[in-house]
Amino acid sequence: MFDTLKRDIDAVMARDPAAHSRAEVFFCYPGFIAVRRHRRAHRAYLKGHFLLARWINFRTYQKTGIDIHPGATLGEGVFIDHGTGVVIGETAVVGDNCTIYQGATLGGTGKDIGKRHPTLGRGVTVGAGSKVLGPINIGDHVKIGAGAIVLKDVPDLCTVVGNPGRIVRGPAVRPDIDLDHGDLPDPMLEKVEAIEGKLEQLEQFEQQEMEAAPHNCAACPVEDCPRRTEPETQKEEK
Ligand SMILES: CC(C)(COP(=O)(O)OP(=O)(O)OC[C@H]1O[C@@H](n2cnc3c(N)ncnc32)[C@H](O)[C@@H]1OP(=O)(O)O)[C@@H](O)C(=O)NCCC(=O)NCCS
Repeated sequence: MFDTLKRDIDAVMARDPAAHSRAEVFFCYPGFIAVRRHRRAHRAYLKGHFLLARWINFRTYQKTGIDIHPGATLGEGVFIDHGTGVVIGETAVVGDNCTIYQGATLGGTGKDIGKRHPTLGRGVTVGAGSKVLGPINIGDHVKIGAGAIVLKDVPDLCTVVGNPGRIVRGPAVRPDIDLDHGDLPDPMLEKVEAIEGKLEQLEQFEQQEMEAAPHNCAACPVEDCPRRTEPETQKEEK
């Protein structure tokens, strides 16, 4: 129990640069308080004390504005930052070391029964105001952008943004095993290669157009064109 407490405090200290001391986290962080109280509510829920579990959940919501259903499963080191408006449904599963920002919902679509809330892998970031809906799986180390609405499974190491959520990054290199500095992507080189490719295509296109176009040298402004023929009038004068 104390191990989990320590990990919950460590999670806040590691991920919130604004946290100055463990005491500050322990007494003044609504997300930390909500997670700690949820762990008590969840134990009561698992023992079948549903009313007690609901009561703890209700009081937590009154105190912090964070609504975690007692049935939801939270891993270790889960950090809810700011917290107001966070909703986590009954069958949601949140993996170790996830970070959830204010206004995020791990909810149901209203269409499913039984398991109807998302399952988050390890190290997932759920951005402010985002909605993750339905019994979907979000892979390890996924980042969900602020305001995104995610309705489909997301593989490990991806970034999802927008409504409906679309994958804009990944799968990326895991930050904790990213040791291969000789093989880092070079975005400038990629851009230059893309521009070179486009130029080549343009040149090919121009060549084809030149070959296909009927000759009308009299009307053409390119004077040093290798295909230029002298206009008929000039030929006659000669
Ligand atoms: C998504 C996020 C995690 C960044 O992840 P990332 O993998 O580093 O992604 P990038 O910053 O490289 O952005 C990828 C693309 O998505 C876009 N993007 C980033 N966040 C976005 C968002 N919330 N909504 C829409 N598009 C977004 C970027 O503009 C970029 O587009 P581009 O490729 O056309 O330039 C971050 O932007 C975010 O939303 N974090 C939430 C944090 C939060 O809620 N903070 C509240 C603190 S109070």
